[in-house]
Amino acid sequence: MSASKTKRVKTSSSPLVSAHLPLRRHSGVPLYRQIYDGFRQAILGGLLRSGQRIPSTRALAAELEISRFPVLAAYEQLLHEGYLAGRIGAGTFVSGTLPDDALRPVAGARASGRSAQAARQARPVRREPERERSDGGLRPFRMSLPGLDQFPLAIWARLVARHARALTPVLMAYGDPAGLQVLREAVAEYLRTARAVRCEADQVIILSGSQAALRVAATVLLARGDLVAVEEPGYPGARDALRASGAELAPVPVDEQGLSVAALERLGARVRAAYVTPSHQYPLGVSMTATRRLELLEWAERHGSWLLEDDYDSEYRYVSRPLGSLQGMDGHGRVIYIGSFSKVLFPSLRVGYLIVPQALRQDFLEAREALDIFSPALSQLTLADFLAEGHFARHLRRMRAVYLNRRGALLEGLTRYCAGRLTVLNADGGLHAAAALPAGTDDAAVVARMDRHGLTATALSTCYTIAPRRSGLLLGFGGFGERRLLEATRLLGTVLRRTGD
Ligand SMILES: Cc1ncc(COP(=O)(O)O)c(C=O)c1O
Repeated sequence: MSASKTKRVKTSSSPLVSAHLPLRRHSGVPLYRQIYDGFRQAILGGLLRSGQRIPSTRALAAELEISRFPVLAAYEQLLHEGYLAGRIGAGTFVSGTLPDDALRPVAGARASGRSAQAARQARPVRREPERERSDGGLRPFRMSLPGLDQFPLAIWARLVARHARALTPVLMAYGDPAGLQVLREAVAEYLRTARAVRCEADQVIILSGSQAALRVAATVLLARGDLVAVEEPGYPGARDALRASGAELAPVPVDEQGLSVAALERLGARVRAAYVTPSHQYPLGVSMTATRRLELLEWAERHGSWLLEDDYDSEYRYVSRPLGSLQGMDGHGRVIYIGSFSKVLFPSLRVGYLIVPQALRQDFLEAREALDIFSPALSQLTLADFLAEGHFARHLRRMRAVYLNRRGALLEGLTRYCAGRLTVLNADGGLHAAAALPAGTDDAAVVARMDRHGLTATALSTCYTIAPRRSGLLLGFGGFGERRLLEATRLLGTVLRRTGD
């Protein structure tokens, strides 16, 4: 790193702040991370003091001659961790109480009486889990993130408190592996009306999410050496869960109608099960046509095979009415339906469910019990009330409008800033858009480049098990406001232009 490449900022309004942000543009460390580290060290070293106002994101970005985006990302992280207080856009200050990180020595920070005192006074604050930190935090265009900023936390907290206070010894002891009856009834009713699933409450098994549901289904239905068909491209998490049973994965191409049943037929009679995302194919976004669904059900019936329907984010559809579930069209009990509250509420809730044919119920319950016995009572009770009191339906309705706007902002930004370099393949439903890069582009390298600019995406090629792998980006929009998405697409445009040059 040459001295000339190190950018030190001269500023009149905030000399202390910018003096601690010697950005190194080619160091490989993302700019937002450098800004975050600079602030953190200055605060912990006592060089930025409690209550001190820091520049607006716009002013700092201008001083540093960089885009506003990494500054925003750094400020959000610092606010989240409790180093800063206030609100972006309405005045941001160095916090009066430092997070518990302050108790640990910071490399490079100058110890001072002031920081030691601040550390002694530090109170624990909400901390980000490890997974969030290691894969880039909550930044555009991270996949699988719902609009967590819109979640009705006050209502949720009230329900949690209500049930926490009323926990009886029975509820505190070991529970039913199938899940609490009240929740199973609420889930069954929701699925019957919203997703046209044919089910009774005793077919519902509550567990910690789709991932656990797939593990259980694989244990019951697959043996070592069996063939299980998976969509190509498809969801890597499902592949991992299915592989754990010792079964062999058979990739089956997806076309504009969904999984190719003709290709599935060519695999012969050894295929015990097929994993599908008919409502919103992961990752391409295709909705499986009714004809294809009937062909698939007919295939399963003829071969005595099982269909694992992962209905992970079907609640959101922007261009047409959603089709009901595949399970609802099945007259022969061949479909295992898998759903989750991760996208409609929040992922760390870790509640999902299986709807199993009556004939398999006992086997599934045994496998579910072997996994982790049963799900936490407090979350089940809270969720049951959240559904029964209408909060869930209201939240869904509200989020449909929110996501429609967020999707609009993403598409507008991509048209404005990325035209000719990125082609949207599908954004008809769900919380992400699939977009193609020019053939031959190394999409993983684009993602790595985005990371250096404070952006996240999933490379489409990672969803394939075999070549040829289509090059593209999966861009999550659910978790981010419209302005942030527009700004992020502008930055993405810059990244893509540099990639193309
Ligand atoms: C297709 C698909 N299925 C399942 C899941 C995981 O859901 P859960 O959090 O319920 O395990 C995801 C998460 O992103 C997904 O994209």
